[in-house]
Amino acid sequence: MATFPEYIAQNEERDGVRFSWNVWPSSRLEATRMVVPVAALFTPLKERTDLPPIQYEPVLCSRATCRAVLNPLCQVDYRAKLWACNFCYQRNQFPPSYAGISEVNQPAELLPLFSTIEYVVQRGPQMPLVFLYVVDTCMEDEDLQALKESLQMSLSLLPPTALVGLITFGRMVQVHELGCEGISKSYVFRGTKDLNAKQLQEMLGLTKPSAAQGRGPQAAPQQSFNRFLQPVQKIDMNLTDLLGNHCAHWCTFPNTGARIMTFIGGPATQGPGMVVGDELKTPIRSWHDIEKDNAKFMKKATKHYESLANRASSNGHIIDIYACALDQTGLLEMKCCTNYTGGYMVMADSFNTSLFKQTFQRVFTKDVQGSFKMAFAATLEVKEIGTGGTCQWKVCGLDPSTTLALYFEVVNQHNAPIPQGGRGAIQFVTQYQHSSGQRRIRVTTTARNWADAQTQIQSIAASFDQEAAAILMARLAVYRAETEEGPDVLRWLDRQLIRLCQKFGDYHKDDPNSFRFSETFSLYPQFMFHLRRSPFLQVFNNSPDESSYYRHHFNRQDLTQALIMIQPVLYAYSFNGPPEPVLLDSSSILPDRILLMDTFFQILIYHGETVAQWRKAGYQDMPEYENFKHLLQAPVDDAQELLHTRFPMPRYIDTEHGGSQARFLLSKVNPSQTHNNMYTWGQESGAPILTDDVSLQVFMDHLKKLAVSSAA
Ligand SMILES: *[C@@H]1O[C@H](CO)[C@@H](O)[C@H](O)[C@H]1NC(C)=O
Ligand SMILES: *[C@@H]1O[C@H](CO)[C@@H](O)[C@H](O)[C@H]1NC(C)=O
Ligand SMILES: *[C@@H]1O[C@H](CO)[C@@H](O)[C@H](O)[C@H]1NC(C)=O
Ligand SMILES: [Zn+2]
Repeated sequence: MATFPEYIAQNEERDGVRFSWNVWPSSRLEATRMVVPVAALFTPLKERTDLPPIQYEPVLCSRATCRAVLNPLCQVDYRAKLWACNFCYQRNQFPPSYAGISEVNQPAELLPLFSTIEYVVQRGPQMPLVFLYVVDTCMEDEDLQALKESLQMSLSLLPPTALVGLITFGRMVQVHELGCEGISKSYVFRGTKDLNAKQLQEMLGLTKPSAAQGRGPQAAPQQSFNRFLQPVQKIDMNLTDLLGNHCAHWCTFPNTGARIMTFIGGPATQGPGMVVGDELKTPIRSWHDIEKDNAKFMKKATKHYESLANRASSNGHIIDIYACALDQTGLLEMKCCTNYTGGYMVMADSFNTSLFKQTFQRVFTKDVQGSFKMAFAATLEVKEIGTGGTCQWKVCGLDPSTTLALYFEVVNQHNAPIPQGGRGAIQFVTQYQHSSGQRRIRVTTTARNWADAQTQIQSIAASFDQEAAAILMARLAVYRAETEEGPDVLRWLDRQLIRLCQKFGDYHKDDPNSFRFSETFSLYPQFMFHLRRSPFLQVFNNSPDESSYYRHHFNRQDLTQALIMIQPVLYAYSFNGPPEPVLLDSSSILPDRILLMDTFFQILIYHGETVAQWRKAGYQDMPEYENFKHLLQAPVDDAQELLHTRFPMPRYIDTEHGGSQARFLLSKVNPSQTHNNMYTWGQESGAPILTDDVSLQVFMDHLKKLAVSSAA
């Protein structure tokens, strides 16, 4: 019997699933008393090199409201060639092609090894990939030049059959007609007017002739689209020429995988999506303006981008945003575009930075089969036992690290709990367009035991996955922060933490020193401590665009990356031994150490006071101090490794004791040694809250006090 940590790791490896609880309470009331909901982090396209797709289609449950996919948890009667659906209990006949099955001749989808399996849909045409470049041309020459080079590079990475379109915008919007050799013809629109899809199609001459006109339903629209979307191989296109002489909106290619890649060099200053006025003297909104309800354009612009995002999403199209400028560009207003469509959001100071260039190049990374690591037009469907229905979401874009959070409800009433010994099953069905053009269906079926929380609370507690729980609660908190007032979110988070301590801690009433948390929960309070201080909940010192950017990535990265974002990792390099992980604590900052901090968004190297002095004195260049040279080099090499693999590429910071950028390190470590260890007790609402910017020790002491208090 595997331990829970082994079991959790195995499940993540095989199915890309992590549950907050791995034994589930059997009634709704008990579930609410567990404080942390029964929820899952799911990575639909987790990379599995040992999972070659199978070349037939899934067998579905015949009940129209169920349609669950045949899986290893189904009961099979090999003699009668029947299988019982484990979601609705319907008995189903196997299709004729399964006539030869027996106990010793099972199809792959019945083997426990294939709890996650991928099918290739055999019907339907192969879909082309569509890449639409939407390029802001109002930017500095240096940026535009660098951007053109990156775009040209990306064209060379596209498969020859990919369809490519180009829209440029500035004062005017230009939809370029590609494919007429040597001549670049374009349609020009005023950027101030909001056109709907139909108006746009009419203006571009894309309206479908009615069927009565006697042409095939396929041929006609294809032909007219061809003027704007051309296969890469046919375009005698030189983006450098096309983009040479100018200054948004997208046409439709419904239900086909399409990536709309927008490159933005500044905020919109006109039209329905404008986020700042035209006069240079008015700055773009800050958090302060938003709090004071003084962000004049925000609501209208947000609404505009939401409608665009919905339009793209309903067509299955992905919108990526590459915003490269020193100041804000309006990511706050535009974030729904990437969120609703599974697009990328990348923020950098300029297009002429390796952050942008490398990140953009990594979008086109290929797997061992030579396919892009991106999925198009994806939907996710979740089937749960007992709820008699399914939920489906359009996610459009997915990549191997995209991780979704799903929160489940136990629906059984307290007086009619699920019978003991049963297992709850969940099936995730992800349909998507593979970058090879194939339609694929990936199915993951997983189950957990039910337990009566009154008699078996120990086994439920032992099944707690504190890392998954921390991320799942953090995502809820970020959602609240996006939709409610800031301080209330911290208060809510604190209340949940106190309740969890009360429910699962061991203690004597009113005796804080007696409080003990079992190992399964021991790290959880610390995650909450760092989460409270993180840029996902604290907006102080960040612009609204930066907050949107950080939250965007927090909401889509996998568990490992998300944990780094909450609680950055710190490594120490010194002459006292090999590099080692150290506590994210101010006591780890020592004069004779170099620290490497990874916050996901930043890779920072910090030289302690003595090391910095040696470096300034140039010891590394003297042959007799070669070991010092190696010491300086070691964290740089490790940083390079991270810089070369992560998406998006992190910002690289090299700093030292007293350096201005050392603040990035100081803002992340636990302030265990500062004078700031005072705390107060927020009592405005009568509800206990934990105050900001105290050390972890003070936070824990305070937490224990509140958890054991008979008054709380
Ligand atoms: C981009 O930046 C590099 C290094 O800072 C510089 O050498 C190069 O000239 C810049 N590119 C353009 C087009 O200005
Ligand atoms: C595009 O055209 C420009 C000038 O017309 C030229 O310098 C450049 O090499 C061309 N690029 C490619 C990839 O053909
Ligand atoms: C993205 O959209 C989903 C709903 O579609 C919402 O639950 C989530 O909080 C959003 N995330 C952000 C960062 O806006
Ligand atoms: Zn069924």
